[in-house]
Amino acid sequence: MTFSGVPNAQNMDALAQAGLSKPIFGLDKEVYMGILLQRAASSKYRYDPAKGTKPSEQFAAVDPTPDSPGIIQSVPSPAHPRSSFVSVSGVLSSVPGYPINRHTLAMSAYQNTLKPPRSHLKRDARLAAEGEAVFRRAGCITCHAGPYLTNNRIVATDVLGTNPSRARSFKKTEKFWGPPLMYDYDTPVPLPKKPKLHRMPLNGMSEEQIRLAFAHGIRRAATRRRACTASIGRRRTCTTAASRPARSRGNTASPGRSNPACCRIRPKVCAR
Ligand code: HEC
Repeated sequence: MTFSGVPNAQNMDALAQAGLSKPIFGLDKEVYMGILLQRAASSKYRYDPAKGTKPSEQFAAVDPTPDSPGIIQSVPSPAHPRSSFVSVSGVLSSVPGYPINRHTLAMSAYQNTLKPPRSHLKRDARLAAEGEAVFRRAGCITCHAGPYLTNNRIVATDVLGTNPSRARSFKKTEKFWGPPLMYDYDTPVPLPKKPKLHRMPLNGMSEEQIRLAFAHGIRRAATRRRACTASIGRRRTCTTAASRPARSRGNTASPGRSNPACCRIRPKVCAR
C-alpha cells in the first residue's frame, strides 16, 4: 500500500479542518472559521460580523467548492471530519472527472522511480574510509545504513533529540480518530451517493511504528527518557515500563520485553 506524501496544498487549506477545530484546536467551529475569514485577502470571502450571520453561513454563500470541505477542491475521506490512517486531515486530494486519488497515486509511482543524483564531489578514498570508521564507531550506522543511509524507521523524537512539535500536534488527533476506510479505487469524483468502502490493511505494519508515526499512546518524551535512563542505570539492560514493579505502573502488562527506544539511546547497553 502506498500513500504518497499527501500534497501539501491540502493541509494548507486551513478551512478544510473546520470540522476538526473543536477536538484538535479546542475552538468552536464558528470561532475558528471567523478567525480565518475575518482577514481574508479577497473581500468576497471576508467575514463581516455586521451582517449578523455565522461565519459558516457567509462562507457557504460564496464557497467555490460546495461539495468539498474547505475552499480548495478536495474529497472528504470516509472518516471525515475525523482523522484516520488514510488521511490525517480528514480530506483527500482528488481531481473531479478522474477516479479517486488518481493523481496522487500517479505522483507516488513517479516518486518511487526517483534516485538521488550522484555526488559531484571528488572522493578521497583514504578520508572516506576514515569517515566511515567514525560513522560506525559513533553508532550512526545503526540507523543510517544501506545505499540510502536509512533503516526506514520512524524514530521517537526523544531518542533523536529533534523538535517534537509535529509529534505533539499529531497526538491530538488520537481522540478524534476514525476507522482506516478508503473508497474503492474506481470510485469517481465527485463521489457517488453510496461509494464502496474498503478497510485498509494495517497488518504487517509494526504497531510501534504506527504509534510513533502519529504519536498515539505515547507518553511525554521527558517522562519516557527518565524511565529509560533509570532502568538502564539499575539493571544494565533496557526494559519497558511493563517490566517495572506493578505498583509503579498500575497495570498488568506482561513483563520483560526490551524497549527498542531505550536500546536506541544506549545500543551498547542493550547488546550486553
Ligand atoms: C536512532 C537512529 C539514528 C542515529 C543513531 C543517527 N541518526 Fe541521523 N537521523 C535519524 C533520523 C530518523 C533522521 C531524520 C530526522 C527527521 O526527519 O526528523 C536523521 C537525520 C540525519 C541527518 C539529516 C539527513 C537529511 O537528509 O536531512 C543527518 C545529516 C544525520 N542524521 C546524521 C547522523 C550522524 C552523523 C549520526 C551519528 C553521529 C546519526 N545521524 C545518528 C536517525 C538516526
